[in-house]
Amino acid sequence: MKILGFQNGHDVSYCVLENGIPIIHEELERHIRLKEPKGNGLRYAIEQLKDVSDIRHFIMGNKSGWNSKSSDSIKDYYKSTKLGFEEGANGKSEKIMSDTILKNKGGYHETGHHQAHAANAFYTSPYEEALILVIDGGGYEFIPNTNEQQMIDTAFTVWKGKGNKITPIEVKPNDTLNIGSAWSMYTKKIFGLSAGYPKGHQAGTVMAMACVGDKNKYWEDFYEAFMQGGGKQGKKLLENCNKYKEIATKSEQDTFDIAAGLQYATERVLQPIISNYIKTHNPINICFSGGVVLNSVIMGKMFDWTNNKNIFVDPVPYDAGLAIGAARYAYHHILENPRIKAHTKNSSPYLGVLYDKDNIRKALDRDDCIIQQASDEEILDLLSQQNIISVFHGGAESGRRALGNRSILADPRDSNMKSLINKKVKHRQWYRPFAPSILREDVDKWFIRDIDSPYMSFVLPFKEEVKDKIPAVVHLDGTGRLQTVTKESNNWYYNFIKKWKNKTGVPILLNTSFNDREPIVETPEHAINCFMGTDIDYLYFSDYNILVSKK
Ligand SMILES: [Fe+2]
Repeated sequence: MKILGFQNGHDVSYCVLENGIPIIHEELERHIRLKEPKGNGLRYAIEQLKDVSDIRHFIMGNKSGWNSKSSDSIKDYYKSTKLGFEEGANGKSEKIMSDTILKNKGGYHETGHHQAHAANAFYTSPYEEALILVIDGGGYEFIPNTNEQQMIDTAFTVWKGKGNKITPIEVKPNDTLNIGSAWSMYTKKIFGLSAGYPKGHQAGTVMAMACVGDKNKYWEDFYEAFMQGGGKQGKKLLENCNKYKEIATKSEQDTFDIAAGLQYATERVLQPIISNYIKTHNPINICFSGGVVLNSVIMGKMFDWTNNKNIFVDPVPYDAGLAIGAARYAYHHILENPRIKAHTKNSSPYLGVLYDKDNIRKALDRDDCIIQQASDEEILDLLSQQNIISVFHGGAESGRRALGNRSILADPRDSNMKSLINKKVKHRQWYRPFAPSILREDVDKWFIRDIDSPYMSFVLPFKEEVKDKIPAVVHLDGTGRLQTVTKESNNWYYNFIKKWKNKTGVPILLNTSFNDREPIVETPEHAINCFMGTDIDYLYFSDYNILVSKK
């Protein structure tokens, strides 16, 4: 039984769930090559899938005060309600959907914004029971414990997940706490960076700056603004934008100090809130979702804040994950199917479509590159000779972080590698770190905690004694945003790093996303275009052992 989840708005995406397991999830940004576009998720899904005749249930992952309708009343529903679709082509998509539902005796459903985030975190996790926290920049959600389907704008919700159900515990009104919107405002107004279409949200750059700033200098104003609330219109928030925009022009160090203050204030606001929920509910397991949890520095500290609870962050915690969460919500909560026990498949982030050898051949049909066959061992040799190699493997990983299938790999032992990658490919600021992929079984030898981080969700300090062995992936404060790799999560990548370990004694590779500021590459054609447009040394299609170099 197939379910199509989709979501409208920014980070527009869709997901197909087959018998509860996501088999495809795509984001429009990967195709149009511009970050975080707004759009109509249903129309995008139908255009991409071409044939949706085997979909039984459709579910929209955000907004509306309307919960669930059977196929009998779907036509009346469309007559009486406006879904927010535009005229023209979108009306066509809507008709395809309603005809399909009628034919397959299925249903159309909707979730609240946070409901979909919470569902994605919990149903992706291995936990039978968990406390779920959703922290983002805001969306509409049903008010708990009311008979009418009233909705409220919220940026912070708490849920309980048990078995195949999730229930809301608390929905904080947007104007009482909104961390995501404040970060967006500050990112744009103070730092002059982008916070959405077409360059994407650059909060990560602010987080990297925070690492080289003095956190004690400016944090209090940011703390006060968070505590005062008021959403995007908060008085103190607006004051801060003006005041610190001015201060940021003084010196680069001041900009770093502001970033550090913002990060520190965010931590000081969140820590007691989180601790309180832990005290009240005493969960063993906690799931997190929402765009704010992309702040992997905070997520790394969460182990301390929660007294070492089990913590799970879903691979797509920002709004593109609403499509997956909605589909999961339909399957488990609405249709009451049991949880999926085959967790590896259920929690895989590699949800992009597969491209075959013909697709790759077609993309490589050009006269400015050299194509040869090569083994993984030969690629490892090239890596150890300080070459920067982009890899294209299987279906793309969903989410903001490259996890080995659309990655640029390099030798982490070389202290010049960071500046070399920046010069040749990424063109990032000097203070931005590159991440380590590490064999899961070696985490405790390299980091101060022994944790699972399959989606690069947590920043942890390296152990003091290993830092000088892998300088290219150690951030300026001695930390790394690790990806833990297992045979089950990515067989090829696991074996590849294992061979690297046998060769060098180091179970770590530098892994950064395969792109140059634009969205992560999706197709073989994007891959070759990015490769030819930068100074990456080699491009490796690992499924077919095809190695590409420049003429
Ligand atoms: Fe959200």
